[in-house]
Amino acid sequence: MELRELSAVAALVLALTGALTGALTGARGSCPPYNLSDARGLGRTFDGIGGLSGGGATSRLLVNYAEPFRSQILDFLFTPGFGASLHILKVEIGGDAQSTDGTEPSHMHHEDDENYFRGYEWWLMKEAKKRNPNITLMSLPWAFPGWVGHGKNWPYDFPDITAAYVVNWILGAKQYHDLDIQYVGIWNERSYDSKYIKLLRYTLDKRGLETVRIVASDNLWEPVVRSVLLDPELSGAVDVIGAHYPGTNSPEEALKTQKKLWASEDYSTFNDEVGGGCWARILNQNYVNGLMTATISWNLVASYYEDLPFSRDGLMTAEEPWSGNYVVESPIWITAHTTQFTQPGWTYLQTVGHLAQGGSYVALTDGKGNLTVVIETMTRDHSVCIRPPLPPFNVTSQNATFQLEGSFASIKELQVWRSQFNFKTKKSSFFEKLPPQKLFNGLFTIELAEDEVYTFTTITSGQKGSYPPSPPSARFPKVYKDDFNVRNPPFSEAPNFADQTGVFEYYVNMSDPGPHVFTLRQVVTERPVTWAADADQTISVVGDHQWGNLTVTCDVFMERVKTGGVFIAARVDKGGQSVRSARGVFFWVFADGTYKVTNDLAGQTVLAEGRSGTRAYGWHTLSLTVAGQYASGLLNGYPLWKNAVVLSPKSGWAAIGTASFEPAQFDNFAVVAEY
Ligand SMILES: *[C@@H]1O[C@H](CO)[C@@H](O)[C@H](O)[C@H]1NC(C)=O
Ligand SMILES: *[C@@H]1O[C@H](CO)[C@@H](O)[C@H](O)[C@H]1NC(C)=O
Ligand SMILES: *[C@@H]1O[C@H](CO)[C@@H](O)[C@H](O)[C@H]1NC(C)=O
Ligand SMILES: *[C@@H]1O[C@H](CO)[C@@H](O)[C@H](O)[C@H]1NC(C)=O
Ligand SMILES: *[C@@H]1O[C@H](CO)[C@@H](O)[C@H](O)[C@H]1NC(C)=O
Ligand SMILES: *[C@@H]1O[C@H](CO)[C@@H](O)[C@H](O)[C@H]1NC(C)=O
Ligand SMILES: *[C@@H]1O[C@H](CO)[C@@H](O)[C@H](O)[C@H]1NC(C)=O
Repeated sequence: MELRELSAVAALVLALTGALTGALTGARGSCPPYNLSDARGLGRTFDGIGGLSGGGATSRLLVNYAEPFRSQILDFLFTPGFGASLHILKVEIGGDAQSTDGTEPSHMHHEDDENYFRGYEWWLMKEAKKRNPNITLMSLPWAFPGWVGHGKNWPYDFPDITAAYVVNWILGAKQYHDLDIQYVGIWNERSYDSKYIKLLRYTLDKRGLETVRIVASDNLWEPVVRSVLLDPELSGAVDVIGAHYPGTNSPEEALKTQKKLWASEDYSTFNDEVGGGCWARILNQNYVNGLMTATISWNLVASYYEDLPFSRDGLMTAEEPWSGNYVVESPIWITAHTTQFTQPGWTYLQTVGHLAQGGSYVALTDGKGNLTVVIETMTRDHSVCIRPPLPPFNVTSQNATFQLEGSFASIKELQVWRSQFNFKTKKSSFFEKLPPQKLFNGLFTIELAEDEVYTFTTITSGQKGSYPPSPPSARFPKVYKDDFNVRNPPFSEAPNFADQTGVFEYYVNMSDPGPHVFTLRQVVTERPVTWAADADQTISVVGDHQWGNLTVTCDVFMERVKTGGVFIAARVDKGGQSVRSARGVFFWVFADGTYKVTNDLAGQTVLAEGRSGTRAYGWHTLSLTVAGQYASGLLNGYPLWKNAVVLSPKSGWAAIGTASFEPAQFDNFAVVAEY
């Protein structure tokens, strides 16, 4: 037995008189203590834990929550020492295109257009900053307006245009919202171009944004790691290698770049307790196994219709602005275990690692004597993330002894916070404050069960924030109307409309004599440089995915002469990145004086068609009723077609849209649904 083990055992006698026999004889009890020390220097600088809003439209419904619920949700996400207390907020630079669960508007729909008040990401960043002035802000495009690619589905043929477009967004953030964007990425999960990255660096510097740092490439480790190693100029431009879903590992080559390594998008797992377990495991092990110093959750908050792809893959759930109901899920409290007791700029100790019987521990310090240790013992089946596949491993209950040395040797007491997942009884407890842990000669022993998370820290603040329960969950109102006259000032989009291709914005026509001054207008007139498979039509969905029998009514106004077309729809079954294959009942009218009823958005399955007399630059009122297997339509209050047979889908959202990327307006939208 080595001397250090002897001294550890001696201390154990003091600390745990009762446990001595077990510690000496049990195979597990004979484990040497885990050393927590800064005596031989420190590890990497910690950059924080974050959430990602966007990629795409994942905060869409959040903005429409009434107070006080909206502020409460924001407090659970951002308020220091309250809930997740996030260190980083990453947002999408809207590109007018579908980016997973919806489209987000661009600040430049056209080359000669600039507007820094669209969408909700500006608002969200300001709300985060209000709560935590130190929050790190990051941004990344998923897609670009069509003009950036000059008609090609590719943003790098004119890299100067793309760089100027992205830099404008960062300048706009400062000029109009006083937001300092600290990091910017390249093109989410798509190819990068080294020439573009260098040009982006050059453009940032030229526009006075020398402090904005570049993350590359928000995809896999390779090939960007190799490019950075081979190209010193590229290496000079890139500050952070950001990988997505790294499975807690980074390759050795990545370390050779000497760059910060981040899991710049991770998690993406249904936010039940297995999701919480995934998050606990990767928050620790991204550093232990991969030396990653930031982990960012896709997504920040699940605020999109539950029937869109990747439902509830957020740190918490807020998908019912109409009821006010929201749910603080376990990932919020798992985040708090680290975020409430560390700050970006703290440093990991070199002494981090795996526990002998499974699980892991990390330790961080502020360099001024404070120490925070986070321990997780998540079992495999209770911590599976959506990707990559998780190999088998075993975790069993164990006693772990920690020996504090170096600057921490004289610490006498640590604050203790615990989460216990209990998958059998479903009576889990999260982020519970326990009595402080006493240390003797820098030693403490803890009895760890499976599926637990502990924080031991010198930081004496920390709080499990709470509000009265949010209102009960409720379905979307059966009767829903919007004349687009009353606007929520900071937002450009009408509540509950979730754009799936194209962008639908509030519009004011001051020369209209009265009834249609305030409308909702589809404004994307060219296919964007896409990230997902946007439809060839534009579409915004609204309401309840279980709506089967309903009447949808809307005034429509085509702006494209001869070739224009618009629709209203019911039972729309798909959105997000599957929007191209959406089915439902679509009632179209065209500027050439015809109408069509189709069973799909692509317009392939025609249920009825004929003359309508509709034209551009005139308002028409469309009404679509679906009941059981039959659908019928009215134009300006008169029957146009009836008894079209609709066998499937049986239910879905209501929707509005256009036949192509063309401008068109909508007014006096109404749904009356039966449940
Ligand atoms: C703990 O780690 C420090 C620094 O790595 C080392 O000097 C010391 O000997 C270690 N102590 C034990 C008990 O392993
Ligand atoms: C922001 O950071 C500064 C400097 O690290 C610190 O003094 C201050 O307390 C932090 N503010 C908040 C709200 O965390
Ligand atoms: C730890 O941090 C607190 C602030 O949270 C500070 O007051 C204290 O001096 C720091 N150092 C130690 C050794 O606790
Ligand atoms: C886990 O434990 C079981 C039972 O002891 C054993 O058969 C299996 O090989 C272990 N798996 C791993 C990955 O260690
Ligand atoms: C941990 O130590 C306690 C005594 O403090 C003992 O009862 C228990 O069996 C030990 N657990 C394990 C897994 O060794
Ligand atoms: C605005 O209203 C006027 C008057 O009704 C109409 O002629 C014009 O086409 C409208 N323009 C748009 C873009 O809606
Ligand atoms: C939908 O309408 C059909 C036909 O009128 C009717 O048979 C069915 O019960 C309705 N379903 C619901 C859920 O109201």
